[in-house]
Amino acid sequence: PTITFTDPDGTASSIDATPGDSVMETAVRNGVTGIVAECGGSLSCATCHVFVDPSDAADLPPMEEMEDEMLWGTAVDRGDTSRLSCQIRVTDGMDLHVALPETQV
Ligand code: FES
Repeated sequence: PTITFTDPDGTASSIDATPGDSVMETAVRNGVTGIVAECGGSLSCATCHVFVDPSDAADLPPMEEMEDEMLWGTAVDRGDTSRLSCQIRVTDGMDLHVALPETQV
């Protein structure tokens, strides 16, 4: 699986991800600086916010209510395809593109 992270300045990094990891863990382990993940993935910080590419958004499982609520507390206002990356599981063959917000805090 491949996850592509695009910075606010347009720089894209494609990372070879491991199935079962979250997208947040994939970012942190590979030094993607735009993901802070203060709470370590326990759905209580909203500093792992990403904007999923609209063409990929429908391929993801829908979010739980708690994630939806937490998305109202992001540093940069949520968009139509916003997700918390700690709640997105990497699956076999995934080819996901996400954009990083200007700031997470
Ligand atoms: Fe804290 Fe995702 S890492 S909500």
